[in-house]
Amino acid sequence: MMNIFDFAKKKQAGEKITMVTCYDYTSAVLVNRSDIDCILVGDSVAMTMHGFNSTVPATVEMMALHTAAVARGAKDKFIVADLPFLAYRKALGENIAAVQAVMQAGAHAVKIEGAAGNQELVRHLTESGVPVMGHIGLTPQFVHLLGGYRVQGKTEESANRLKHEALALEEAGAFALVMECVPTVLAADITKSLRIATIGIGAGAGADGQVLVFQDLLGLNTDFRPKFVKNFMNGADLVTNALNEYNQAVKTGAFPDANHSFNPDRMAQPA
Ligand code: KIV
Repeated sequence: MMNIFDFAKKKQAGEKITMVTCYDYTSAVLVNRSDIDCILVGDSVAMTMHGFNSTVPATVEMMALHTAAVARGAKDKFIVADLPFLAYRKALGENIAAVQAVMQAGAHAVKIEGAAGNQELVRHLTESGVPVMGHIGLTPQFVHLLGGYRVQGKTEESANRLKHEALALEEAGAFALVMECVPTVLAADITKSLRIATIGIGAGAGADGQVLVFQDLLGLNTDFRPKFVKNFMNGADLVTNALNEYNQAVKTGAFPDANHSFNPDRMAQPA
């Protein structure tokens, strides 16, 4: 299993880091069988698994429940869990309670969105034994403030702000940084300026690693296809076809056949 030092080691070695989101036990077992380096239990769970139209409705309880399921299925993977909307913008005691819930559910690190106002917490958490991954650029918990899901860092001013945020998070003790929907050149520039690893999503090939949402990667999501998503299989059609085959087999009487039924005569035969 990776640990936090492997992120920087891979960056130094020029070895790309792969991360995928995961929200449930069955998917976690599959990711655990794969070569993917690490898992993010993202607050995108609110959208992919609960059908909300943003990550804002995610709660600490939701994150802890899904983190625990993933941790039971992916015993060999480093797991980062998102702290959900506002869960780390409260009094220190409440922030720590949220962190405690997801860490004790099985996460090895937490991810928080934004830098402004978070540096002290990042410092406090790392001093308390909790590794923190930062997240800048398009931070989905800020969707209402950003006016939608838009590429960030397109003007010189916002590009400079993102560079400062990245450095501030590194300085505060973050061990890695997600950069979401930022121009390729800016993402590469930020990556070069940091000692910690960057993980891109919609940030081009210059980041030290990439993260994709499980459902997007597998083509399971038919109603959402941002430019940066590549489907590595057509999961929606494969699953629908399998469901239709099952439906057909039951309706034609082809399933269940003898091989999938308990036959007393055959059960009585010696093995
Ligand atoms: O919640 C999530 O899935 C994320 C990724 C998009 C980085 O934060």
